[in-house]
Amino acid sequence: MSTPAMSRVVVIGSINVDLVVAADHLPRPGETVLGGRFARHFGGKGANQAVAAARAGASVLMVGAVGHDRYGDESLAALAAEGIDVSRVRRVDAPTGVALIAVAADGENQIVVAPGANAEVSMEDAAVNGLPAGPGAMLTCLEIPMRAVVAAVATAVRLGLQPIVNPAPGQRLPAEVLAAGPILTPNQDELLTTSGAADIEAALTSLAAGGARAVVVTLGASGAMLADGRRRVSFNALPVEVVDATGAGDTFSGVLAAWLAEGGTLDVAVAAANAAAGLSVTQPGARSGMPTRAQIEVSLGR
Ligand code: RIB
Repeated sequence: MSTPAMSRVVVIGSINVDLVVAADHLPRPGETVLGGRFARHFGGKGANQAVAAARAGASVLMVGAVGHDRYGDESLAALAAEGIDVSRVRRVDAPTGVALIAVAADGENQIVVAPGANAEVSMEDAAVNGLPAGPGAMLTCLEIPMRAVVAAVATAVRLGLQPIVNPAPGQRLPAEVLAAGPILTPNQDELLTTSGAADIEAALTSLAAGGARAVVVTLGASGAMLADGRRRVSFNALPVEVVDATGAGDTFSGVLAAWLAEGGTLDVAVAAANAAAGLSVTQPGARSGMPTRAQIEVSLGR
């Protein structure tokens, strides 16, 4: 088993508390479903990605915003307990973000987010002034304002960090974001929304033409596909029983960032991210199943 070099990952993203109800099936529009257990978990795509990167062995700085409320206090404490530096998370006059999540018996979910404090993440926050340049990765998502995402990739370029953009929830990406040469980690739906293209190949071509260094499409039970120039590499999903798919994409992006930040190749980083995402869905909540570095190494057969 290899010992990881302590790599640097800066996550500029969202922080939520997840209010989760399990049910037999997800409600159709207009349908009320009588669910089962209620659970509260820590969430937010950015914060989940930060935890995944930290458990994979990275030294993580979280940049974001929470309210002056109990959810804010608890969210910060949970991140700090993972060894994440939360000194750049601003307390703002808005409630901490909340996600309402339904999880079906097959592990699929439906999520609605009240962004709250996440909508206050500013370009100045994303500039992360005073941070020294050096190697590593910067990971951002679209649960914060797009102007902050644009500033986040500019920060990555300024500091010499590899920008990684998880374009979720799906929105069209501005030209400035693509021009920074990010690695993108959409799911299949987000791939089309992000690019505005009608099919997968057209989307990959347009994102590459815009400047994306590579696109890694997460495919749920079908694993992942790396598109790097003309190269297409498929990665099979781990054969696991899915309990809750919430946070699988975040685990993927966070672990990808951790591996790339320590100088791993894209192919090895995607293999590690794919294995970690598979392990993450075997437990309820976004973070309970996120693996440690050692667990990822074992699942890679090292
Ligand atoms: O990707 C899963 C996350 O999306 C949840 O934790 C929820 O907070 C939403 O942000």
